Amino acid sequence: MDEYKITYRSYEEEELPEKYRRLVEAARKASERSYAPYSRFRVGAACLLRDGGIVQGCNQESPVFPAGICAERNALFTACSGYVGQVILAVAVWAAEGDTPAANASPCGICRQTFLDTEERQQAPIEVIFRWNGKYMVFASAKELLPFSFRFNFPK
Ligand code: THU
Repeated sequence: MDEYKITYRSYEEEELPEKYRRLVEAARKASERSYAPYSRFRVGAACLLRDGGIVQGCNQESPVFPAGICAERNALFTACSGYVGQVILAVAVWAAEGDTPAANASPCGICRQTFLDTEERQQAPIEVIFRWNGKYMVFASAKELLPFSFRFNFPK
């Protein structure tokens, strides 16, 4: 049997280093602007740019369900379209059910793929930070979160 190893750091709430804490707080603030009348799952994300700037996004739902967007891609694409050429160093995710912080706020598969695509495009890893059962998980690269990810060589 083969194995695939995933590496990450985990921190108790009070141990989380300041640079991540700031980004998580920005994600939490962004979640307050979520529009989630259908799921009531309010998600916020914050991307840290190389120049120190932070770009936020939150989930936006639609009555045509698949037309909505996750917080992570909202933040990522806002960064990619508003700050062209800026490297994205990290993304933090926060989620709340109503007003209660969600124990788990891990990004969905589509968002993982878009972080990975962006990493490859900018040729620099994106750290991913989110809450998992009350702890904070820090992954050094989106790659860690998407084993055997989709790859395709587009025809020239
Ligand atoms: N959602 C996110 O914003 N990020 C994720 O990674 C997973 C799900 C949103 C989509 C939808 O608005 C709500 O959470 C419930 O799925």
